Amino acid sequence: MLRVGMLTSGGDCQSLNATMRGIVKTLDANCKKDVEFYGFQDGYRGLMYGNYRVMKAPDFSGLLTRGGTILGTSRTPFKQIDEPMPDGLEKVPAMKKMYKKLKLDCLCVLGGNGSLKTANRLSEEGLNVIGLPKTIDNDTWGTDMTFGFPSAIDIATKAVDDIHTTASSHGRVFVIEIMGHKVGWIPLYAGVAGGADVILIPEIPYDLDNVLKAIDQRVKNGARFAIVVVAEGAKSKEEAALTKKQYKKLLAARTEPSIAYVLADQIAERSGREVRVAIPGHTQRGGSPSAYDRVFATQCGVEAARGILEGASGFMVAQVGGKMCRVPLADIAGKLKMVDPESDLVREARALGISFGDE
Ligand code: F6P
Repeated sequence: MLRVGMLTSGGDCQSLNATMRGIVKTLDANCKKDVEFYGFQDGYRGLMYGNYRVMKAPDFSGLLTRGGTILGTSRTPFKQIDEPMPDGLEKVPAMKKMYKKLKLDCLCVLGGNGSLKTANRLSEEGLNVIGLPKTIDNDTWGTDMTFGFPSAIDIATKAVDDIHTTASSHGRVFVIEIMGHKVGWIPLYAGVAGGADVILIPEIPYDLDNVLKAIDQRVKNGARFAIVVVAEGAKSKEEAALTKKQYKKLLAARTEPSIAYVLADQIAERSGREVRVAIPGHTQRGGSPSAYDRVFATQCGVEAARGILEGASGFMVAQVGGKMCRVPLADIAGKLKMVDPESDLVREARALGISFGDE
């Protein structure tokens, strides 16, 4: 008997189920032994408390198109991994104990940066762990892409597309807030794909004067409207110069619900133009995975299953230069993959005349 544990951790995305299906189908088709899957409920919490379901391959059928996660998810901040749960349960010892009690051969963790740090910790503690790079944010180190990202770009792009007609009818400036607190991958891709005039991302601090200049230029060129795509975590140059503590204080004192409202008020006040805000929010994590996402999620699942069949662990499945591969969890844990301001896509966007608000 082969016993494979699985959990989905952190913010969900569209292709978690498709990835698990990839693991299960590959093992079902290629493993000579009987395989039992232990699906832990709500991420690491399920592993800590022994909240799991014993599942078989048929339990994972029909999942290719189903968004969300059939296992449920929760956030278990890595920063607090050595702090006990409110009821006193010690997290890491409890997870180790459960893994051993169930005689698992391997644990598959479908998670983003924080979850992969915990996966690495469990691997260092001697458990056989395989990480799979999940996040709409695409900020996982060591892989060109994460699953969830392709679907999120499509949804964010549709939001930018749809705003065009109403922005044009009314001759308004729209500020569209796209997910990404620390990194700007989704706003960058959706901004380019949706034809935004201005894209503001955390990696490139902006100056409001430059944003206003870009809007003015567009109007001078004959346009009736302008679209500003802003990442949740975009910062002005002044904000970027603050210490972490000072910036946190500034955010805590903010009365507007989010950056899009701050920016919209500033643009309206300084330019006298009519400005509106649009926020697709969690729709960017919702619905079915896109076709591209399903393919990548499936590839990740297959590669993880191949690792299990070989008895390998301690790695994250990745794609580098279009090739599926494995990278040691220890090499990627704790690192953030940010947009390089000098990357081709940023340069190409600039060449098109898109402003990043920095110049
Ligand atoms: O990490 C994925 C993500 O969707 C981010 O893009 C976003 O900033 C955050 O999660 C939202 O978190 P929550 O679902 O806890 O509101």
